[in-house]
Amino acid sequence: MAEPGSSSNSDDSVEARIPASCPPSIAQVLHLAWQHKLAELKPLLNVPGRASVQEPATGETPLHAAIRACAPANRALLDLGRDPDEEEKEEEKEVVADRARAVVRELFLSGAIWNDVDSNDETPGCVAARLGLGDLYTLCVEAGVRAELLFGLLDGYEELESDDGEEGEDKDGADDEGVEEEVEAGEGADNTVETEGVEDIEVVVNSDRAFVPPKRLNGPDVNSKDYLRSNLTYSEGKLVDSEDNGVMMAWETSIMRSSVESLLPGLAVGRRILNIGFGMGIIDAMFAETHPSKHHIIEAHPAVLEHVNGPDSKFGKDWAASGPSDGAYKVHGGKWQDIVPKLLESGETYDAIYFDTFGEDYSQLRMFFTEYVPGLLEEDGRFGFFNGLGADRKICYDVYTQVVEMHLSDAGMDVEWQELDVDMKDLGTEGEGEWQGVKRRYWTLDKYRLPTCTLMG
Ligand SMILES: C[S@@+](CC[C@H](N)C(=O)[O-])C[C@H]1O[C@@H](n2cnc3c(N)ncnc32)[C@H](O)[C@@H]1O
Repeated sequence: MAEPGSSSNSDDSVEARIPASCPPSIAQVLHLAWQHKLAELKPLLNVPGRASVQEPATGETPLHAAIRACAPANRALLDLGRDPDEEEKEEEKEVVADRARAVVRELFLSGAIWNDVDSNDETPGCVAARLGLGDLYTLCVEAGVRAELLFGLLDGYEELESDDGEEGEDKDGADDEGVEEEVEAGEGADNTVETEGVEDIEVVVNSDRAFVPPKRLNGPDVNSKDYLRSNLTYSEGKLVDSEDNGVMMAWETSIMRSSVESLLPGLAVGRRILNIGFGMGIIDAMFAETHPSKHHIIEAHPAVLEHVNGPDSKFGKDWAASGPSDGAYKVHGGKWQDIVPKLLESGETYDAIYFDTFGEDYSQLRMFFTEYVPGLLEEDGRFGFFNGLGADRKICYDVYTQVVEMHLSDAGMDVEWQELDVDMKDLGTEGEGEWQGVKRRYWTLDKYRLPTCTLMG
């Protein structure tokens, strides 16, 4: 399978994307968007849903059309009707980009969906990235951030599902493509979302000019309840659930190593550590090597707990007994949602906290860092989490980086991002290399953005 949003052999011609078979009402909107005819397009967009119509065969939306029209071959056709010289080419590029930006902005204001995918599995932002149209890509990211923040306000939180069904921060393998979640905007409802650091556009949710929430790229088929009841299999290099979703995989070891180094600078010994989600115990083994003064692990899955207490485990009774004081080294069996409030109540604090669960959506991570981290973390402590938010698609990853940063800031935390290279040699193809025996590859990016969070001073 091609990497999502990186279609390398797509035919970007207007004939291919808006075929003759396209219903006239859809073709009209798509052609006007493609030709960047803003004045003619605008009145049509007053009809709810128009800004996000989709060509039935190619999945082209007005956003795709407006952006794709900026491809070099399309620009020449669009403006001059002949091959331009170099100077004309540059001028033409600027003119077309300006016009495209105006159309894209208008489409977003009119409820266009930032993450609809076309028949090449590309969102409009993916097309912009592939064509090297940075400004248009940025507009798509900003729209995604606004939409995700708005979802958070309207509905507690509607997580952005990534192509492998990765829900927010975790790693569940999903495959019910195209599930659309609708947020009902009441008659005349009016919601605006303020997005610091993002171009200031008011997103209006009302029945006249409907805001249509982002479509799920792929709905999850794993939820926490089902996951915690499912059978797990530990095998060489991976832990999978009964559906063969990758819960944890050995290729993440270098990410875990860097996470430990970021949480315990200089691999400081004798620190107080809390890790949520044992999985394969990779990060806990690294934490243990630093001889912490306190090492608490929270794990909910019965099969993982059985593994922890099994003969091959380094975290059984002997480990627990080796702690510097009673209860200093401890695996707390149960869901963090039940255990963390008790730790807080009993006054436990930590220098380093790491969060990496499975089968939970982003609302849980957000709740953890908003409601619990400030109370559990020492003043100069560090908090980190596995950042798989939207990791199957660059634009989703970029959107989530901004969303989580804003939410961390709301929670009183600063975040520093460290970009790590991910060796994609054995991770590039579905079902092959590292992904053998795993239902979906939940990681497609060659960069990992590692978050290190600290309490604001
Ligand atoms: C991705 S693995 C963690 C991998 C770990 N970082 C490592 O280095 O091996 C996620 C773990 O979180 C556990 N988990 C999922 N939901 C949980 C919850 N609500 N509370 C505690 N643990 C949970 C899963 O059972 C699984 O063992």
